[in-house]
Amino acid sequence: MRSDIVDKYKSKITEAYDLHRKFVNPQFVRVLEVIGYNRNYCGAEGAYLTDAKGIKVLDFLAGFGVYNVGRNHPYVAEVLHEIIDAKTASLVQMDLGVLSGMLAEKLAELAPGDLEAVFFTNSGTESVEGALKFARQATGRHKVVHCDHGFHGLTLGALSVNGNKEFRGRNEPLLPDCTPVPFNDLNALERALSGGDVGAFIFETVQGKGVFVPEDGYLQGARELCDRYGTLMIADEVQCGLGRTGKMFAVEHWGVKPDILVISKALSGGFIPVGAIITTRAIHSKIFDSMERCFAHSNTFGQNDLAMAAGLATLEILEKENLLENAAKTGDRIIEGMQKLADKYEMLTEVRGIGLMIGMQFGEPKSLGLKASWKLLHKMNDELFCQMITMPLLEKHNILSQVAGHGLDTVKILPPLMINDGDVDKFLTAMDSVLKEAHKITGSGWKTVKDLGIRTARTS
Ligand SMILES: Cc1ncc(COP(=O)(O)O)c(C=O)c1O
Repeated sequence: MRSDIVDKYKSKITEAYDLHRKFVNPQFVRVLEVIGYNRNYCGAEGAYLTDAKGIKVLDFLAGFGVYNVGRNHPYVAEVLHEIIDAKTASLVQMDLGVLSGMLAEKLAELAPGDLEAVFFTNSGTESVEGALKFARQATGRHKVVHCDHGFHGLTLGALSVNGNKEFRGRNEPLLPDCTPVPFNDLNALERALSGGDVGAFIFETVQGKGVFVPEDGYLQGARELCDRYGTLMIADEVQCGLGRTGKMFAVEHWGVKPDILVISKALSGGFIPVGAIITTRAIHSKIFDSMERCFAHSNTFGQNDLAMAAGLATLEILEKENLLENAAKTGDRIIEGMQKLADKYEMLTEVRGIGLMIGMQFGEPKSLGLKASWKLLHKMNDELFCQMITMPLLEKHNILSQVAGHGLDTVKILPPLMINDGDVDKFLTAMDSVLKEAHKITGSGWKTVKDLGIRTARTS
């Protein structure tokens, strides 16, 4: 029996906004409309989205880092079709799946050191929740230290170790005894751990909000401190793992082995929700320490065959298509190219990142006219400036990017790891043009964002 769902998908594409306004999240609909991001994408392949008018858009957002292998990768899609056709016995629950065993084996082979015990989840935040529980049970300590600006997801446990006030706000009080420390500050970390009663130090190896890379020595120092005070290290690589930084796991850049590694996003090539907590057998055995406790932590969908098969196919593609090397090479080219633009355009103050996780920092200009506009705009709303970059990037150059976080003058890109030199050139040329316009006091950019500020204030 042939369904009409695909036909409906095609014929109703332009109704998406009305449906979401009515049945999903009308405030997000308004945001997308106001910033001109309402393109009604109806197709996607590799690094490109196609909108309702047939325009190709270079996707430098990659679903927040889900599409490391590119969108709709044909091999991963083929494997999924094959698994469905094979009518596998998925989620029997009271039996064991071979695909989950195979994916666990592969992850254990790739993960650093003796991280070899795998627990599958359905998302990044669920991976973090599980990791926090594992650390509590393995150490018998409930205190957690986390980093300012860190993002670990939005369920209550993950939110308790989230350094971003805008998400915590109306949910407090959260879990007690979760202490933030500044990222890259070993003295602060030592002060927080020195009581010898902290179960876990959780951090993003590369922070996603704002894109902050650890200074050399920070993670090694953190490892030593955690060892000294009996604290487990949880590396959250939900976004920066699986090749994004040019290594399979970002911790490899600094030769550090965490006690618990959490991943998600890119693991299934963007097809099926999936995540994993990878830890040592010694830690795992402390949680699952008897037959009675074989379900001490569990979920229903974690080991579903489609996610597991997509995971195996995705890891194969990352290796076969040399995507880690490509991420490192194209990332270096973008960072280098952007640094040249930073010499040319005064508001672009810093380009930071590693592999294809890149942040472009903007700051107050020195020249008088621009300085006045900058100040006025920030007085109006300190979230607006980056729209002057991201909006024309999409509108005029058909490149999708994002603002790196609330209240940050940072634009972030997370391209798929399979982009080529042509895509890099296209981005650099577009950025040159957008920055040139932004640096004109009378340029259309300032007017657009000021109007946006007025419209946002009126409608909120
Ligand atoms: C580093 C990190 N951890 C955890 C999460 C939460 O993942 P999810 O949205 O799948 O719950 C995210 C999501 O952006 C993330 O970037």
